[in-house]
Amino acid sequence: MTELSPLQIERLKYQPKLPESLSSGINSLEMIEGNATQSVRDQEQIKALFSNTYGKPTVTFKKSSLSKSSNITNVGVILSGGQAPGGHNVIAGLYDALKSANSQNKLYGFLGGPSGIIEGKYVEFDDKFIDAYRNTGGFDIIGSGRTKLETEEQFRSSLEVCKKLNISAVVIIGGDDSNTNAALLAEWFVKNNAGIQVIGCPKTIDGDLKNEQIEISFGFDTATKTYAELIGNIERDANSAKKYWHFVKIMGRSASHVALEAALQTQPNITLISEEVEEKKMSLDSIISYMTDIISRRAEIGKNFGIAIIPEGLIEFIPEMKSMISNLNDVMAELEKDSSFTNASSITEKFSIVERKLSSENARVYSSLPSLIKSQLLADRDPHGNVQVSKIETEKLLIEMITERLAKMKKEGKYSGKFSSQSHFFGYEGRCAFPSNFDADYCYSLGYNAFALISFGLTGYLSSVRNLTESADKWIAGGIPLTMMMNMEKRHGEMKPVIQKALVKLDGAVFKRLESNREDWAMNDRYLFPGAIQYFGPASVCDITTVTLQLERAKSLINA
Ligand code: FBP
Repeated sequence: MTELSPLQIERLKYQPKLPESLSSGINSLEMIEGNATQSVRDQEQIKALFSNTYGKPTVTFKKSSLSKSSNITNVGVILSGGQAPGGHNVIAGLYDALKSANSQNKLYGFLGGPSGIIEGKYVEFDDKFIDAYRNTGGFDIIGSGRTKLETEEQFRSSLEVCKKLNISAVVIIGGDDSNTNAALLAEWFVKNNAGIQVIGCPKTIDGDLKNEQIEISFGFDTATKTYAELIGNIERDANSAKKYWHFVKIMGRSASHVALEAALQTQPNITLISEEVEEKKMSLDSIISYMTDIISRRAEIGKNFGIAIIPEGLIEFIPEMKSMISNLNDVMAELEKDSSFTNASSITEKFSIVERKLSSENARVYSSLPSLIKSQLLADRDPHGNVQVSKIETEKLLIEMITERLAKMKKEGKYSGKFSSQSHFFGYEGRCAFPSNFDADYCYSLGYNAFALISFGLTGYLSSVRNLTESADKWIAGGIPLTMMMNMEKRHGEMKPVIQKALVKLDGAVFKRLESNREDWAMNDRYLFPGAIQYFGPASVCDITTVTLQLERAKSLINA
């Protein structure tokens, strides 16, 4: 028998909360249709590509006094992309809803991400199986993967597998790219009269899959609390030893929501926000100037220590880097098929081949980087054609450049401090933590609600649970068409329909909170120590949501 930790044993007993509207059971629901929708951009192109699923209305659920019976519905579920705390609870919520609708319903889990449905690798869940994973972190219940579902052949084999198992609905739990897969699959199934519905669930610690109806993706709450705990601990260490500058890179592939939230919870001395860097067209050189200015001003008052937060995706937002990386992505799509590149005898030969293919300005930027970063930029793209920013050590690049700059300033008599640094990367540490009470409840509700969408015959929808700063009973459950979040973007050198990432809004209340405190936090040590996630105790400590969600909700209520 597997050994369980004391916390594991206690968390298995936790009963996640549901919105009041879903609490009378899946067979006692009424669906209210909202307005017809359209995509965020490129409406004509998206409409043409999704002619069967485009423009559908948003929906919300209400308790109904009538109880309906439910036909047998077998469902297949897929965990897709990076891990995020709460994925197991989405599956548990889906399972409970499906079994309460009709005890003969079956839930299948496809193994290893989207490839599971293509290759027909699956498990069937039962009570014992599900019970062992309730309120636990991780995606190990069935595993995850990043296979992109997009070809006719993949769709056909998915259909065959579903037919074999008599599956009439598929739930894809994923981020923007995975839910783009869900939208494509939904459209293909309708077009081919397959009779299989597809529902998405908004997952990603990055927090960039959101709009008015999707207030936050699941996992963001737990992951940011975990990083904030670690940063708080480092702040205490820095403030005790007073000898290191800690450079902390924080996950979030593109948007800086995670870095921003962690900063608001801990109040470090420096926080870079990628979206601001792009908006202000800050070059790498000007970022170094901004950081060294704070480091040298702190040194003048005897503080040779501090904490700097760096968002993982920063490098792609620095204008000269953005242009170079975009050019490099196209070049790499070509070179991946070129044996003179793949068989090159050394990494320096690869650098030269790449530099010859890039435009002259981009080649200049690329060649100015340290070899470590140059080779990290050549690492394999993810299946969606993105640079894997988690593999690029931006924090080390910044430390190297700051060290050089401070040495120069010292020579010129402009700096007399001591700069000793430590680098950290917080990402994987937070993706599989035990879900916070918020994520445990939110995920369970998202899964339960996904089955409600299925039971009303919808397809191409994303499970939506909102009003999240209120207690769970007041949450509003419903769904939004996936196409509503789409636009056209370049992937692997071609324009493709994709779900648009929600970036940090520089005129939003969340960024403004950081901006108005920046100078104070830079010079005066206003460190906050959030401590570990609390699972038991008063709701004011255990059920509290992120600063991001609270500020965004407060703003939207003012604007309403
Ligand atoms: P998803 O968007 O799939 O949820 O993944 C997000 C993420 O955790 C990013 O923050 C990070 O850049 C990336 O995954 C790391 O990917 P991998 O798990 O493949 O190393």
